[in-house]
Parts: sequence; structure tokens; C-alpha cells
Amino acid sequence: MQAQHEIENAMPAASDKLNIESIRRDFPILNLKVHGRQLVYLDNAATTQKPQVVLDAIQRYYTEQNSNVHRGVHYLSQLATREYEGARVKIQRFINAAESHEVIFTHGATEGINLIASSYGRKFVHEGDEVIISAMEHHSNIVPWQMLCEQVGAKLRIIPINEKGELLIDDLEAMINARTRLIALVHLSNALGTINPVKRVIDIAHSHDVPVLLDGAQATSHLKIDVQELDCDFYVFSGHKVCGPTGIGVLYGKSQWLESMPPFMGGGDMISSVSFEKTTYNSLPYKFEAGTPNIEGAIGLGVALDYLTGIGIDRIAEYENELLDYATEVIGSIPGVKLIGTAREKSSVLSFTLENIHPHDIGTILDQEGIAIRAGHHCAQPVMKFFNVPATARASFSFYNTKQEIDTLAEGIQRVIEVFG
Ligand code: ALA
Repeated sequence: MQAQHEIENAMPAASDKLNIESIRRDFPILNLKVHGRQLVYLDNAATTQKPQVVLDAIQRYYTEQNSNVHRGVHYLSQLATREYEGARVKIQRFINAAESHEVIFTHGATEGINLIASSYGRKFVHEGDEVIISAMEHHSNIVPWQMLCEQVGAKLRIIPINEKGELLIDDLEAMINARTRLIALVHLSNALGTINPVKRVIDIAHSHDVPVLLDGAQATSHLKIDVQELDCDFYVFSGHKVCGPTGIGVLYGKSQWLESMPPFMGGGDMISSVSFEKTTYNSLPYKFEAGTPNIEGAIGLGVALDYLTGIGIDRIAEYENELLDYATEVIGSIPGVKLIGTAREKSSVLSFTLENIHPHDIGTILDQEGIAIRAGHHCAQPVMKFFNVPATARASFSFYNTKQEIDTLAEGIQRVIEVFG
């Protein structure tokens, strides 16, 4: 079934359009009824649903492969190791990393950023140095840098945004100086949907010998990621936002940086030898993977990325753009709706407010209609502050969503207006 759908979806059909009905059959949860209504799942920026092939891979791991990796000569351990390392190679190919040892497994994007802040930070960021982030970052790309700056006496600088939610990139050049040690920037904003001009940022940064970390948590399922073409120094993403399991993520880093950085956590597998006098560390990628890893998560993530590749990220992106354009038109034209985040380059996220109605009330009424959206600050309080709102309602789309579901959302919003209007 997996192979059939992968082939079916990968084959350029006459119109080269995705076969959404077929794709939806791959996601069992989409058949759920919620409060007696057909589920309309529009909270994909919080987490994506998982196709059957990923569920099967996790089940298969625990029924046929479960063992610890890198630690046994027996059959199962070797099998689990092969699957786990095979997943690393799949991820290497997916993001086009030059080497598989540049792919480090983490718990998620958040851990990846904390790893860089801790490890790169300890080695390269000192008193008086500066780290640059932007005004549209998720808390996970703000707080680790604040913690680092506080510890070492460094300064955090913020690239501003405009009222559309676009980066004021012209301000960046003037912010970089001899003390700038890193730029950490979101690729696609989870709160606004803005796609940042990351290639330009990287070119500017590199012309000053400043490395760049991209937070790809939101971007990886919507945009084609080629870390060599981008020439980013670090890239992080989470498995659960790309149709993979929770609790697994990826940190990509250029070898020369990862080699020069101290380990993040100490423990098993990250060492080469241990004595009470001196411990030496393992080579990449293991130096950064202390303890038993999330083996089934890595395997499940590898399968999820194969699944997306089978459909084609470019085709996914094209279809999701169509959905976003449609939703922008349909939802944006409802009287009282204000869109938050109207950047020219956007993907998959529609944040909005409704005059005099709290986003939590919008979310609650929509839930009664079987529609799942997120209401809140989306872990981006500075963005809310910038737009002078306490929270937004956010519908976020994936390639298994349909225009009919957007129509259902619009009807749901009309219902909210009736109830509170
Ligand atoms: N960062 C995730 C979101 O945007 C959880 O909802």
C-alpha cells in the first residue's frame, strides 16, 4: 500500500496535481469524528498527522527490531543499528548534507538550538560578544540565546520586522560588527507564516565571517531544504512537524563547526574512552548523541521523509500555496477578520483575529464544529506584542487538507460571529 501510494503520488500525473483523496487515505486519523463532526485538522503548525507507513514502521520496530544501537554483536542490535544509521542517511539526502555525520539526532528543533547555544556558545561566545536573532522568533530561538548571553555577558540583538511581518533585512548589515558571533533565524515563522530571505541573510553574514543557524521547525515540511545550496552553518528541525514521530529531531551542522565544538551532554556513546583521569570523546555524529537515542523515532522520521519525497516536496509546496491563497481570500474577506502576518513570501499559516472576540473563544467554538485550530501566542509572545494582540487564532495547512475544509472553517467562523456577535 505504501509503495503503491508513493509511486502513484510520485508519478507526474497529467496535471501533475496531487491525488488528495489517495493521500488522505494514508492518514487514518483524518477519518475521526470529533464532537460528532468530521475532523477538520488545521493545526499542522503545532504538529502534523502521521501516515500509516510511519505508524507501521514504529510498530515493526518494536515487534521485529527492538534492541539498543551501537552496543551489541547480536542480530537484533545490529539490525536496529542498521535501521537507525540508515535513517541518518535518509535525512542526509533529504536536506542534501555533504556527510551523514553532519546529521545529529536530537529530541527536536528546540534541543538542536539549545545544543548550539550551549556547545558553540561555550566555545565561541564570550563577554562583550553579540548574537543576532529576529523579532519573529519562536521562544525556542530566543530563550536559549538569552540564557547564554546572561551567562557569559554577551548581548542579544534583534533584527526588526515590519507591519506585514517581514524581516527588515536592510537593518542587518548595520547590526553586524566585529563582536557578532552568530545569527540565529527562523526560516518560516510559525506565528505569521513569513518565509525569510535566508539565503540573503547567509550571504550577508558570511561576508562578515559570521555563521548562521536556521530554525527550520516550520519550514521543513513546506519548503525544499538544501543545506549545501543555502550554505547555512546549522539547520534544525523536528520530526513531528514533518509527518514523523514526536521526540525526534535533527541538527545539521557543517563538519568544521561540529568538530570544533565541545560535547553538549556527557554519557554513553559520546565517548571514545573514559578514565577518572581523562575522557576522550567519540567522533561525529556520536559526540553529540549521549545515551540511548530515540531509535524508533529516527526510523519513523526516515520513513516519513521517504513518504514526503515520494509525493514530492515541490508539489506539496505548490498545493499548500494554493490552499493558503484560497484561505487568505475566503477567511480574509469575512467582515471583522484581521489577518496577522501578510508577508509577500508566506506559506501554510493563516493567523487572524476577530473583532471583539478572544482567539480562545474562536478556538473553542470551532472545536465544537470538529475544527482544530490553535489559539494562543504560538510560543512567540514578542510577535504578539509587536502586533499589539494578546493572541491570534491560527489555521495551518498541510498537503492533506482541502479547500472544502477551508470552506468549513469559514462557516465555523461565521458561527463564532453569530454566537458572540
Ligand atoms: N511551535 C508549535 C506551534 O507553532 C508548537 O504551534
